[in-house]
Amino acid sequence: MSNLKDLFNPRGIAVIGASRDPTKIGHIILKNIVEYGYRRGIYPVNPSVSDVMGLKTYPAVSTISDKVDVVIVSIPNTKVPEAIDDAGKAGVKHAVVIASGFKEIGNVDLENEVVRRARRHGMRVLGPNIFGYVYTPVRLNATFGPRDVIPGNVAFITQSGALGIALMGSTILEGIGISAIVSVGNKSDIDDADLLEFFDEDPNTSVVLIYMEGVSDGRRFVNVASKISMKKPVIVIKSGRTEAGARAAASHTGSLAGNVALYESAFKQSGVISTKSVEEAFDFVKTLSWNPLPPGDRVVVITNGGGAGVQASDTLADDGIYLEKPPQDFVEEVRKILPPFASLANPVDLTGMAPEDWYYRSVKSALQNSGIDAVLVLYCHTALTSPVGVARAVAGAVDEVGVRKPISVAIIGGLEAYEAIKHLTNLKIPAYPTPERAAHALAAQLKYRKYREYLIKKEQIAS
Ligand code: COA
Repeated sequence: MSNLKDLFNPRGIAVIGASRDPTKIGHIILKNIVEYGYRRGIYPVNPSVSDVMGLKTYPAVSTISDKVDVVIVSIPNTKVPEAIDDAGKAGVKHAVVIASGFKEIGNVDLENEVVRRARRHGMRVLGPNIFGYVYTPVRLNATFGPRDVIPGNVAFITQSGALGIALMGSTILEGIGISAIVSVGNKSDIDDADLLEFFDEDPNTSVVLIYMEGVSDGRRFVNVASKISMKKPVIVIKSGRTEAGARAAASHTGSLAGNVALYESAFKQSGVISTKSVEEAFDFVKTLSWNPLPPGDRVVVITNGGGAGVQASDTLADDGIYLEKPPQDFVEEVRKILPPFASLANPVDLTGMAPEDWYYRSVKSALQNSGIDAVLVLYCHTALTSPVGVARAVAGAVDEVGVRKPISVAIIGGLEAYEAIKHLTNLKIPAYPTPERAAHALAAQLKYRKYREYLIKKEQIAS
């Protein structure tokens, strides 16, 4: 386990700058820590008040007699170095510096001073210029973002603050369960590689999502990312891909977004799944965190619309996944329920008149067939069936079969389709509004499986 263990499971946590003023960031962070249910010591630090939210307040961290492993620093930038010294002397191991006004606006010396003082005391620094962090296994939400993060197995590292907070909210909306959210901001000390080392060993995390503008030590990132990718998928949203984007990144977190081709080749080398947008990344997170990994890439597509099937086939082919004829025993099974004019190639076309039951039986049959590794289900809303009914039929088949196989579902239509997607999402069955997104998200999982095998083989040859 890397030395970030105490950051994620601190014996005590102090909030420097905990104010009674409910509009101040120090107040909101303290409130989130208390209300999300952190059970160990919580210590507000503020020399000008005696208590905040009913908790005794301390004038300085050094006056707290209990063990404090983490300080959240929410005071103006110029006051940070002194607070770090005090916390360091008190034996604190990690400083989470919320304050802005450092490297991102050219205050490099001030940022270096903070890190220098922290190192003098053997302390690590997260930030500055961040919104805090979350670790759901210990019910710790030390952010000024939304409170009710859904516990789960996805760790999210973000270099962007405001976007990161917004995405925190999106994870709740999208039903994505979180193990950790870490705002890294200027990455003065703790960076993506340090965090990947921790998440590699963390039994509560099975997928890592990173919003990245740039990394300073590319070689170390590649080494650490290659290692974790053999066990867990790492998805990166790399921003600053264009010259305009790179300029914006430089003035945002002071990052050098760097050469796009270099980043892409580094991601490829290390098995990192590179995405261009938040939407694509979230789509991938769903298949990669909710589905088990398949043993191979034999996909069967089940649809009620030829067009949707063609779009999905094209998308899969673009991703290097080619559809083969389905296994004969599956074809025979499905033939029993379908009209003679139904096409039983791949995609399997249930035809426009398919009722819910045909979906139930064909999906169940595909999930049970050992010659099929993954199932892509497409449904175009027709007046003959209800999207929620089809969603229930698919979920029923998944439930009946018991053992999970990678599955991805597209429910294409209007408001009712949206309801059906929500129904599947609540059951952790990846569901999307278009055939392309459902196919692309499933392909990400199949591609990751292949790449993971390659990385493992490479490692075996090297050792
Ligand atoms: N130790 C403990 N408390 C201290 C202190 C110290 N050394 N120095 C000041 N305080 C107290 C203040 O008195 C105040 O409490 P009060 O309301 O009871 O008076 C509290 O700490 C906060 O200090 P204040 O000066 O009011 O600052 P603030 O809350 O307005 O702003 C920051 C502090 C860090 C939020 C602000 O400077 C900042 O950087 N904002 C941007 C943050 C950001 O966007 N981060 C990136 C997100 S993605």
